[in-house]
Amino acid sequence: EKAGYEHFMLKEIYEQPSAIKDTYRGRMLADRGIIRMAGVDDNLEKFLNAKRIIVVACGTSWHAGLVAEYIFEDLARIPVEVEYASEFRYRNPVINKDDVVIAISQSGETADTMAAIKLAKENGAFVFGVCNVVGSSISRETHAGAYTHAGPEIGVASTKAFTTQITILSLIALKLGKAKGSISNTDYHMYLNEMELIPSKIEKALESNKHIIEVAKVYKNAKNCLYLGRGYNFPVALEGALKLKEISYIHAEGYPAAEMKHGPIALIDEQMPVVVIATKKGHYEKVVSNIQEIKSRKGKIIAIVTEGDTSVKNMADHVIEVSETFEALTPLLTTIPLQLFSYHIAVMLGKNVDQPRNLAKSVTVE
Ligand code: F6R
Repeated sequence: EKAGYEHFMLKEIYEQPSAIKDTYRGRMLADRGIIRMAGVDDNLEKFLNAKRIIVVACGTSWHAGLVAEYIFEDLARIPVEVEYASEFRYRNPVINKDDVVIAISQSGETADTMAAIKLAKENGAFVFGVCNVVGSSISRETHAGAYTHAGPEIGVASTKAFTTQITILSLIALKLGKAKGSISNTDYHMYLNEMELIPSKIEKALESNKHIIEVAKVYKNAKNCLYLGRGYNFPVALEGALKLKEISYIHAEGYPAAEMKHGPIALIDEQMPVVVIATKKGHYEKVVSNIQEIKSRKGKIIAIVTEGDTSVKNMADHVIEVSETFEALTPLLTTIPLQLFSYHIAVMLGKNVDQPRNLAKSVTVE
């Protein structure tokens, strides 16, 4: 059932082009400029009148929520707060009737996320679920929702669930942006057309696999690793670090690149690999100057860049290319090399990739 792959995680990484297609198929009709999703269409007024969106989730799903914060605010101009479900549920949060709560969960069984949903419902909010497992507890507890059609995710480290969550949330943001007029018709159509190209651009990103194996060989014995990104790619940095931690047990931290100078830069020396997401558009010049700061302290740079990039190439120790796309959609591409990087390091270290120690696929206890 691993379809010839050595691990479920690798299979699931490679399934992302088709998983994303399955997620938007029938929902996004790019040629007609239509996005239809029953759970959103049936509750459109609630979304359009929302004073704010609160995302509740844990782990990787929380990272997808952070990407959603950028895209909802950018395209639909709705304020978004992203909450760890475990913190939200216990801190007596302010929840209003005109808040829309989006709960994101691959398994649909996460105890903290479930408790956050119940609390939001008690306070009169409309709760929308983004789950992968059909019929799961969270999909039943929410008022409405949209499934990610990623197919079963067996590897404990979440991969295709993350990119399909981002896909769904992007479609919702685009739909609301169009309905509110906060994005132009032209941009809306361009986004839909670009979204259709994402699966093939992910295929392209997967072609870097061999090169990534070589990079992984160099850093497999690292004790620590930093991940930096800005804007849309800040959550990707967090997700990259989580992937490395959970399957290779190497200590890793993700930061918004500009936060370096507020503390973490003190960690940089020749022993410290720093993965920097430095794609074009997303504050590129600023990220380049962050790279220079790290280089001058002898840190090792692994940069994720846009195809054809030359300036970062001259500074970085390694570059991994992804295709160009709209800034808001870059997380769908930049995530791929980070998944492969952590996968190969874990394999090289002989770790149990699909079932890392101390972790369970669904966390049904708090
Ligand atoms: C990371 C991972 C966990 C889950 C988290 C939430 O790879 O698997 O961090 O993302 O436990 O799980 P779901 O999405 O099922 O609620």
